[in-house]
Amino acid sequence: NTSESVLLHPLDTAAAPEPELLCIFGTGDLGRSLGQRLLQSGYRVVYGSRRPTSCGPLPQGTQVMSHAAAAQSASVVFVCVHRENYEFLETLAPQLRGKVLVDVSNNLKKNLYPEANAEYLQRLIPGAQVVKAFNTLSAWALQNGPSDANRQVFLCGNSAEANQAVAKTATKLGFTVLDRGSLSAARELEDFPLQLFPEWRLPLRVAVGLIAALFFYVLIRDVIYAKVELGKDISFRIMVSLANKVFPIVSLIMLSLCYLPGVIAAFLQLYRGTKYKRFPDWLDRWMLCRKQLGLVALGLAFLHVLYTLIIPIRYYVKFRIAASTVLQMKENQTKEFNTVWAWQGDSFYSTGILGFGMFLLLGITSLPSVTNALSWREFNFIQSKLGYLTVFLCTFHTYLYGWNKFLRPSSYKWNTPPAFMLSLVLPTVVMVLKLLLLLPCVDRRLTRIRQGWERTDPK
Ligand code: HEM
Repeated sequence: NTSESVLLHPLDTAAAPEPELLCIFGTGDLGRSLGQRLLQSGYRVVYGSRRPTSCGPLPQGTQVMSHAAAAQSASVVFVCVHRENYEFLETLAPQLRGKVLVDVSNNLKKNLYPEANAEYLQRLIPGAQVVKAFNTLSAWALQNGPSDANRQVFLCGNSAEANQAVAKTATKLGFTVLDRGSLSAARELEDFPLQLFPEWRLPLRVAVGLIAALFFYVLIRDVIYAKVELGKDISFRIMVSLANKVFPIVSLIMLSLCYLPGVIAAFLQLYRGTKYKRFPDWLDRWMLCRKQLGLVALGLAFLHVLYTLIIPIRYYVKFRIAASTVLQMKENQTKEFNTVWAWQGDSFYSTGILGFGMFLLLGITSLPSVTNALSWREFNFIQSKLGYLTVFLCTFHTYLYGWNKFLRPSSYKWNTPPAFMLSLVLPTVVMVLKLLLLLPCVDRRLTRIRQGWERTDPK
């Protein structure tokens, strides 16, 4: 029959539908980039402009008309205009009736206006269906197409069909659409681009807080102690020696902070006997910033390695070595080679180097492009198993550094422990808890809970 024969020739050029026509209000950077991208994805584009004859260069193949004429020719209109200029749209209300209006605008600051831009637009033109979308992308990201960092398009709007129409276009442009529901979510979407590294805030605060606290601690115990008790000025040590204490110590503490929430969560699951109860908010938030905690810790470990590299070329160190050699010559005695110290020193360096190597591996595999290339099992193996090994190596490095200092009374100036001893507390706790979790009976129970088994409490 005839309808079948039509279906059998879908490539018939005569039957090819004309590409969909979309309208863009505004010929600024964003409007131009969006137009270019839409053209490349197979749409036809018409611009609406206040001065259709003198609005600067536009992507080739697009048309420019007055706002009213452009709006009438398409069913979807992208509003690439600043909010301050929205008012003129009110005069176009008749032409925009029943159209889908895409609000892509952003503000310069949070809470600049009482209502979200998209809600304001909807109020101006109640007859249109406003959809908030694309505002988290820059003109640059639009023009160049989706990249790993800029793949997502958030959208929201009160009409499901309008949302769907915009989602279809975004998908065709190669973006991943995340529908946030009704237009009341617009304010949240408009705040997204104003956030400055939100997931880094907590880890950076922790790092700055710990660095400041530890710096004062070692300043008092080293420099001020020497001044007050021994009358010596060793303030020059602030630049390298103190820095090379504070950075590795904070790094080790933050590394253990990456692994502490995991063991706490495991114990919580064991205690509750189920995995189906939500973790407390603070634990959730802590777990979610583990990657950033780890990367900041890696940065600080890197600084420690750089500071350590320059030890042999420091004037102070060269002076001390020369002075000790001269003293041996003057007193005509030779220091004996101590094999135990050689072992201690080499093991201390070696665990530091291995720990740092593993640390680098953890950092590299946390990069999205590398993570995407790993299966969940591989990622889990590296971040969990090798992660605990990293904690172990770095902690062992610090214990070896401590060596006989733990028992020496002179280590405890003004009755306070050296800072490196403080840094050992958390990683030691993490390792002890992890060892407990590895006990076969505990491990078996936890595995069952994570597979969905629940403890039924006898009533
Ligand atoms: C101390 C070397 C990696 C944590 C030291 C010291 C050296 C050193 C020479 C003594 C510094 C001094 O006397 O002032 C190295 C080398 C490493 C490495 C060569 C790798 C290439 C790491 C890593 C961590 C770490 C990855 C952990 C995140 C520490 C700590 C101290 C220390 C906590 C004690 C700081 C103090 O109180 O003086 N390391 N280290 N190290 N290292 Fe490392």
